Amino acid sequence: MYTPLLLPLLAKLAATVSAQGASLSVDATQRFQTVDGFGFSEAFQRANQIIDLPEASRKRTLDLLFSDTEGAGFTILRNGIGSSPNSNNDWMNSIEPVNPGSPSAPPKYHWDGKDSGQVWMSKQAKKYGVKTFYADAWSAPGYMKTNNDDSNGGYLCGIRRTHCSSGDWKQAFANYLVKYLHLYEQSGIPITHVGFLNEPDLNITYASMQSDGAQAADFLKVLVPTLRKAGLGTNVVCCDATGWLQQGDILYELQEAGGEDLVNVVSSHGYQSQPSLPFNTDRPVWQTEWANLDDPWTAAWDHLGKTGEGIVWANYVQQTFVQSNVSAFIYWIGAENSTDNSMLIRLNGDSVEPSGRLWAMAQFSRFVKPGAVRIAASSTKEVLHMSAFENTDGTIAIQVINNGHVGTEASVSIKGASGSAKHVQPYLTNSDHDLTVLKKVSVENGNFVSHIPARSMISFVLKK
Ligand SMILES: *[C@@H]1O[C@H](CO)[C@@H](O)[C@H](O)[C@H]1NC(C)=O
Ligand SMILES: *[C@@H]1O[C@H](CO)[C@@H](O)[C@H](O)[C@H]1NC(C)=O
Ligand SMILES: *[C@@H]1O[C@H](CO)[C@@H](O)[C@H](O)[C@H]1NC(C)=O
Repeated sequence: MYTPLLLPLLAKLAATVSAQGASLSVDATQRFQTVDGFGFSEAFQRANQIIDLPEASRKRTLDLLFSDTEGAGFTILRNGIGSSPNSNNDWMNSIEPVNPGSPSAPPKYHWDGKDSGQVWMSKQAKKYGVKTFYADAWSAPGYMKTNNDDSNGGYLCGIRRTHCSSGDWKQAFANYLVKYLHLYEQSGIPITHVGFLNEPDLNITYASMQSDGAQAADFLKVLVPTLRKAGLGTNVVCCDATGWLQQGDILYELQEAGGEDLVNVVSSHGYQSQPSLPFNTDRPVWQTEWANLDDPWTAAWDHLGKTGEGIVWANYVQQTFVQSNVSAFIYWIGAENSTDNSMLIRLNGDSVEPSGRLWAMAQFSRFVKPGAVRIAASSTKEVLHMSAFENTDGTIAIQVINNGHVGTEASVSIKGASGSAKHVQPYLTNSDHDLTVLKKVSVENGNFVSHIPARSMISFVLKK
């Protein structure tokens, strides 16, 4: 494949192409999926780590997550619905910790008003303007399951292929979720999206509940009428499988079992198999959890070429929208005291350290707001990866990632809906810049020219 002799020739060729620059086209008349937003979670008591920070560090953390001028301007918060009997370790305690005795016995709900720090977290998010709250159950309480334990997998009693002497708990679990949603409503936080599964293809030592697609349909047929009878219009999300391939299989079974009509959003994580082709559904699709869990903490944008680095995640987010047709991208944890890359911001003592991954997501989240529509974008140079969105106010945000190792001139041409904009505002992220505001560039009839540095990402924002 590779002949060293060719190297000088290739280098010369590359230099010529680079000197010629790239033509980038954006076409607002070609429209794709609608965006619901970008976000993260503070489940498993990670929210308490933010609450426990000194005031200045707490404010800095919240600004980095939610502010449209200081940080990422995230627009979705994913909460965990607790299933554990108590708050030992990092468990999320249940609102019904004690078995009422049978599925038909009156439940004994216990609301601590904190929900593992997530009530506080949700209120902060709301103050910054977040309107999309996704509450997801990792499991039902143990006594509702085949294994009598909220950890170590097991199934919800009453769905197909379960035989529980304790009875059928489907209705009781649906009532439980409705109660949780009502408690949040009473706390002033309207939960817009609810899920009842997290990685149902995985049996693991923390809160987990297994399900295939047909079994998910069995529960949806109880959950959805129960929500509506309770006056809740909450969107139902399913099924948060470990990866794209796994969710594709669960979705097929869900469709075969007549469950798809009961779902408002199809969701998947990115771990076990990365987002690839779009799912075979007309429902909006969300990537609801993904992170680099294998490498030690790095704040780098582009250093060793490892999976935790910012430029990798800039590409992941972009590809997931462009190739996998998603409407939302949610990282695992926002801020956490940990030593791996499960989070975007590292908390350590009083220090608050944002990563390149945060700035990668910020490039999208700050300028692409809920309701935006993805529009066509293409580049004549394959190392320049592009996406573009038109917001509801007519603002167009164009993301260009230069994966190449030389900078290049780019002439950008925008067709349709560019209005009478005279200027475009570029924002740069690379090893030396964290979403730095660059000088405005003049636009003429939807055309402008700009320089895209090597190994960098630029958002061009064009106000109507
Ligand atoms: C889940 O894993 C646990 C522990 O390895 C095992 O005992 C249990 O049988 C598994 N459950 C299922 C349903 O496979
Ligand atoms: C993309 O998702 C939307 C829903 O958000 C759906 O209507 C459309 O059919 C999907 N397109 C493809 C190619 O899957
Ligand atoms: C971070 O976590 C470690 C390990 O759990 C703990 O020893 C340390 O005190 C924590 N630091 C902060 C600042 O919370």
